[in-house]
Amino acid sequence: MKKLYIETYGCQMNVNDTEVVFSILARHGYERTEEIAEADVIMANTCSIRDNAEQRIWGRIDYFNTFRKAKPALVVGILGCMAERLKDALLDTGKVNIVAGPDAYRSLPMLLDAVCEGHPQINVELSREETYGDISPVRIDKNGVSAFISIMRGCNNVCSYCVVPFTRGAERSRDYHTIVREACECVEAGYKEITLLGQNVDSYHFEDVDFAKLLEMVARISSTLRVRFSTSHPKDISDAVIETMAAWPNICHHIHLPVQSGNDRILEKMRRRYSREWYLERVAKIRELMPDCGITTDAIVGFCSETEEEFRDTLSIFEEVGYDAAFMFNYSERPGTLASRQYPDDIPLDVKTRRLNELIELQNRLSLESNRKDVGKVFEVLVEGPSKKDPSELCGRTGSNKMCVWADTAHKAGDYVKVRVKDCTQATMLCELA
Ligand code: SAH
Ligand code: SF4
Ligand code: F3S
Repeated sequence: MKKLYIETYGCQMNVNDTEVVFSILARHGYERTEEIAEADVIMANTCSIRDNAEQRIWGRIDYFNTFRKAKPALVVGILGCMAERLKDALLDTGKVNIVAGPDAYRSLPMLLDAVCEGHPQINVELSREETYGDISPVRIDKNGVSAFISIMRGCNNVCSYCVVPFTRGAERSRDYHTIVREACECVEAGYKEITLLGQNVDSYHFEDVDFAKLLEMVARISSTLRVRFSTSHPKDISDAVIETMAAWPNICHHIHLPVQSGNDRILEKMRRRYSREWYLERVAKIRELMPDCGITTDAIVGFCSETEEEFRDTLSIFEEVGYDAAFMFNYSERPGTLASRQYPDDIPLDVKTRRLNELIELQNRLSLESNRKDVGKVFEVLVEGPSKKDPSELCGRTGSNKMCVWADTAHKAGDYVKVRVKDCTQATMLCELA
């Protein structure tokens, strides 16, 4: 057996893709290692979403190459979105032996065989069909509690700032039979939580099954299986999805609903295809059917031509929704996107960063306020394992996706436990067994 080491960057879909790659290569004599120094093949599954994500990978490529001294036959491979975006430019560095895009992983055994004969290999073909539906991923997350299942690939939305449609290709949904089968396998293997993944899960459709129906099919598998999903697009999240969530007690009440901006002119320019009013109506619908639903978001500050006043609209929509948590970013121009071709990246970095800090500060307050509202309440949480800070404590999440920690020696990862919130920080609910 040869030893394969993979580092994974970017979104949860990349984590799941790495699991697919381990599965494909396990059948071809490659065994997973977590020790980079003993690897015969070192790969990075990469992300291109922002420039700094790519800069990080360049540093890692140099680092991987330091292992060639001890191992001249070492193979360095770049997978994922950066492979797809940069293609031959990665091989031209002379530091990379294999470049494989997100739809090319079935060819990895062939590429590896060919590379062993001394020639660098590249496959960045995108596909309209590939979903790796028949492949059971080798789970890399250690706790054995929570598993990712990709239900679709690619994206057809073409938001003007976003590189994903270029790196992942056209949207395609995976056959629901294979999704349900994989979820059943996870349950049999002891997993308690499944997260269904897609760039826009609400546009899932395979034959006559839409996302609401798929959610129900997965929820039906076992009442002790928690079902989560990500990411919802505000323009597509349907009443049927919200109703299905409200109807099934094992579908977690958490929706990640990236707003990106609170200003209509910017939303239009981003090509998000919803308005502030539409977004707030979706939030109202969610809250109407599930008052306890966690709502989290992503936002970009300093998008092309964003004025101070328009940025204030992002602050005000954060305040109005009262998000439980958020990921917030400076706009990063990505080559090839509509925005990069049509609009100058004209907000100075210091202005972007000042806006970002202001938004982060606001969100910190909102997260704390949201957690404070839960003090005194009892939640059922799924134990993920020992807490990071104190091994005598366990940690686990509420359905709404809030992290809880509590002193406990009686339970273990995978148990459901009732806890009462005693106190909180902005990031964590400090609890006791209820
Ligand atoms: N499919 C998801 C987003 C996936 S990318 C959706 O449509 O919501 C994750 C997040 O990265 C996005 O929500 C966005 O906030 C951020 N992002 C994407 N492109 C970006 C860019 N060019 N600059 C800064 N942030 C970006
Ligand atoms: Fe990118 Fe928009 Fe697709 Fe999300 S929906 S992946 S932001 S193009
Ligand atoms: Fe990054 Fe590709 Fe995911 S660009 S966010 S790894 S789809």
